[in-house]
Amino acid sequence: MRSLVRETRLDPANFILPLFIVPGEGIRKPISSMPPHCQLSIDSAIEECREIKALGISGVILFGLPESKDEEASGGYDDEGIVQRAIRAIKREVPGILVITDVCNCEYTSHGHCGKIVDGDVDNDQTLDWLSRSAVSHARAGADIVAPSDMMDGRVAAIRGALDADGFSKIPILSYAAKFASVFYGPFREAADSAPQFGDRRSYQMDPANAREAMKEIALDLEEGADMIMVKPAMPYLDLIRQARDRFTDIPMAAYQVSGEYSMIMAAAANDWIDHDRAMMESLTSIKRAGADFILTYFSKPAAKMLA
Ligand code: PBG
Repeated sequence: MRSLVRETRLDPANFILPLFIVPGEGIRKPISSMPPHCQLSIDSAIEECREIKALGISGVILFGLPESKDEEASGGYDDEGIVQRAIRAIKREVPGILVITDVCNCEYTSHGHCGKIVDGDVDNDQTLDWLSRSAVSHARAGADIVAPSDMMDGRVAAIRGALDADGFSKIPILSYAAKFASVFYGPFREAADSAPQFGDRRSYQMDPANAREAMKEIALDLEEGADMIMVKPAMPYLDLIRQARDRFTDIPMAAYQVSGEYSMIMAAAANDWIDHDRAMMESLTSIKRAGADFILTYFSKPAAKMLA
């Protein structure tokens, strides 16, 4: 009877697994704060994608750790960059898997900020050029969806314009529209080697206290041409997922259950303080119940296995 009247159901088709791609071959380097996740070389990522596809998970979102970083984030928009090579290889070897790319500069800058530094602060407008070039190079490599995560003003319009000008008018933009300056990204910065070397991201990410501002950011991104929106992190912001769902009724919406949300559950479970499987399923169900259509989650594989 419970099953008959259940209002919210999880489906692996609504999961996206984040992957961290590193140069080299045969590499699976454990990310200590996010067991059992690893940084993967492209060949290992292909194996992972085959498994993901077999589990019914729709796809992956790629983050790259380049050979070298510089002030200009040049590895981010290089057609031979780590993510661009990974896209081509995955699309060739694992047909049918959806490849989303995170469009941001923080993994590629030597200082770890998401944009160009001018006079000690990130310069919004000069950063838009790097983002546009990255998005176009991802599309050229075969990405299905580009997802800008930097929170610079005007980036969706800039990326849309650049994609259209290069013949990629059909490539949708999933905007990290409501992204907060959150402590819960901590483990990710180990995984992606993207911790800022000075200061923090509060000049471009949102204040966790602001809900109205989040709705305004989403509305602006939609006006600029975003095809899908995202709220991030997920569990501390379930109220905003719900508000966004009620307000932007006909737009596909994602939520990102971020690294810190994952690591907290894994750490508690490792200590036998919490039941891993139930905590995983309850957290994912709450995110879907709040109104997310799909979830970017490090639990994609174990949750899909439980749903099988
Ligand atoms: C890039 C980016 C971050 C995350 C996704 N894209 C880190 C940040 O903004 O500092 C975090 C994802 C996670 O914690 O799992 N800007």
